[in-house]
Amino acid sequence: MDPSTDSSFSKPPLARLEVERMKPYSAPLEGRRTFLRLDFNENTLGPSPKVLEALRNISANQIAIYPEYSGLREAFIKNLSTQGLLTSLLSNQIGIFNGVDAAINSIFHAYGHSGETMLTTTPTFGYYTPCAQMQGMQVLSMPYQGKDFDFPFEKICTAIRETQPRLVFLCNPNNPTGTRLAPEKILEIADISSDTLIVIDELYEAFTGDSVLPSVNFADTPNLLVLRSLSKTAGLAGLRIGFAIGSPYVVDRIARVTGPYDINSFAVTAAFAALADQSYTDAYIKEVLQARDWIKVKLLDTGTRHHLDGGNYFLVWPRRQHHEVDICLKKEGILVRDMVGKDLIDGSLRVSIGTTTQMEQFWNAYLTIENKK
Ligand SMILES: Cc1ncc(COP(=O)(O)O)c(C=O)c1O
Repeated sequence: MDPSTDSSFSKPPLARLEVERMKPYSAPLEGRRTFLRLDFNENTLGPSPKVLEALRNISANQIAIYPEYSGLREAFIKNLSTQGLLTSLLSNQIGIFNGVDAAINSIFHAYGHSGETMLTTTPTFGYYTPCAQMQGMQVLSMPYQGKDFDFPFEKICTAIRETQPRLVFLCNPNNPTGTRLAPEKILEIADISSDTLIVIDELYEAFTGDSVLPSVNFADTPNLLVLRSLSKTAGLAGLRIGFAIGSPYVVDRIARVTGPYDINSFAVTAAFAALADQSYTDAYIKEVLQARDWIKVKLLDTGTRHHLDGGNYFLVWPRRQHHEVDICLKKEGILVRDMVGKDLIDGSLRVSIGTTTQMEQFWNAYLTIENKK
C-alpha cells in the first residue's frame, strides 16, 4: 500500500515539495532467488570462489570496527590495467560508493540544483530521473533514433549548447537498448561546455570494450565522470560496491555528500578479492559473449523481432501479449523484465544473457510459450 493513502495513520509531516512530487524508482526485486534470473542483468553464476573464501574469513574484529578503505582505490586502478584499460589515474581520482546507484544519488546531491536541467537519453536506466526529480531538476530526455536505436548525437550536442544542462547522464552501452557510443564522441560531448558535468555510466562496458577511460585525460577534461561497478560482471550485486572515476575535484565534491562509512566491510573484503581475480570475471564475460552469439543465431533463424547490441541483455518483442509471455516464463521458473511503459520499446521484454545453457533453457521455454495455441 502507498503509505500516503494509509488512513490508519493521522496526517504525517510533509517531505520537501520535490520529494512529495517525485515518482520513486521501483523494481520487482523480491522473491527472485529460486528462479533463473534474466531480469536484472546480474552475473547468473555468482562471484569468484575467492570472494566467497575471503568473506568466510572475515573476523569478528573486522565486523566490530568501522570499515577501512585503505588500498582499495589502488587495487581498483591496478584492476583497470589488468583489464587492458591502461590509465594514469591517482587514488584521489577514485570515489568508492555503496553501489553505482549511491554514486548517482550523491552526484545529484552535489551538483543537482532546483530549476536546472539534467539531460539524458530515452529509454535508459530508470534511476537517473527520480534522482533529478528529488533535486527539483528539469529532465530533458533525447530519444534513441531509428529502428536500431542509434545514439542521438547531434541532438545531445545541440541540447547542451542551447540549454546548458547542469548534468548529462549517458549510459554506455545503454541499458536497455545496448546502444554504443565511441570514446571520441564522448570527448566531443564533454568539450562543448566545461560547466556541464558529463557522467558516463559504464556498468556494462565489459561486454563491449568501449570504455572512455584510456582516451580521457581528466586534467584536460575535468567535467567528465565515469561510473563502474562490481555488481554485474564480478557478481557482487548483493554486496553493493561501485566506483566513480574523474578529476580529484569532482570526486571530492561527490564524496562530501556521501556518508563516511557508507560502504560496509563485507563489500570491501569482497571487492579486494574480486579485483584480484580478474581472470574469473573475464571467463564469465567470455561465456556470456558466446551465449550472446548463440541466442542471436536463434533469434535471426526464427525471424523473431529483437534488438541485440552492446551489454549482457537484449530486447525481444513477443507475437503474443508481452505481459502474458512474461507471466508464462515466470511459471517456467524464468524471470525477464517487461519494458511496459518505456519510451520506444513498450511491448518488448528485456532478457539478460547468462551462460549458453541458461539461454537454451530460456529459448526452449520462450518458443513453447509463443507457439502455444
Ligand atoms: C545502467 C546502470 N547503472 C547503474 C546500475 C546500478 O548499479 P549498482 O548495482 O552498482 O548500484 C544499474 C543496475 O541495474 C544499471 O543498469
